[in-house]
Amino acid sequence: MALRIAPLGDHHDRAVFDCGVEALDRYLKTQAGQDSRKRVASCFVLTDDGPAPIAFYTLAATAIALTDLPPPLAKKLPRYPAVPATLMGRLAVDRRFRGRRLGEFMLMDAFSRTLRSEIATYAFVVDAKDEAAERFYKAYQFLPLAAAQRRLFIPMTEVARLFA
Ligand SMILES: CC(C)(COP(=O)(O)OP(=O)(O)OC[C@H]1O[C@@H](n2cnc3c(N)ncnc32)[C@H](O)[C@@H]1OP(=O)(O)O)[C@@H](O)C(=O)NCCC(=O)NCCS
Repeated sequence: MALRIAPLGDHHDRAVFDCGVEALDRYLKTQAGQDSRKRVASCFVLTDDGPAPIAFYTLAATAIALTDLPPPLAKKLPRYPAVPATLMGRLAVDRRFRGRRLGEFMLMDAFSRTLRSEIATYAFVVDAKDEAAERFYKAYQFLPLAAAQRRLFIPMTEVARLFA
């Protein structure tokens, strides 16, 4: 397989994508293009030799209220009401390609893309849609945020260490 991750484009054939979660499949097929054009979320897709995505994730800017961070981390930050963060709102791997570390590959690509940005971001944030997704992220040192159920984060200083 010649794996490649690129921004979602018109040439990507999304019709057959099936990650087993209808809402995520529908998002890729009907909403992701619009969100990219309107610049509310960027969508990146993984392909091999063909035009059909086998995985995708989205990235957008967000913010974390200082009061939602664990106190030991918040204490080290300036007293702004919120700090900038990057939200990976969606991540999905097609069912036919599960268990080949492609979820991890996508997460590492999203980490590295966020690290390369010149715009400061304090943390990388995800919304785990269920307990299984939460377990997946916690294996990569994600921690819970206080306010929202299943919203997890990892400080970018920790992400940078992964690539050091
Ligand atoms: C979660 C998902 C992205 C993982 O993709 P994947 O390619 O199958 O996972 P990988 O092969 O990269 O697995 C990496 C590690 O995560 C673990 N893992 C994978 N899926 C998991 C799950 N659902 N729950 C817990 N752990 C999981 C693997 O066992 C592996 O751990 P190991 O290092 O101990 O072997 C994929 O199952 C998926 O698309 N699920 C449906 C949508 C979804 O839940 N998205 C999550 C965000 S809402």
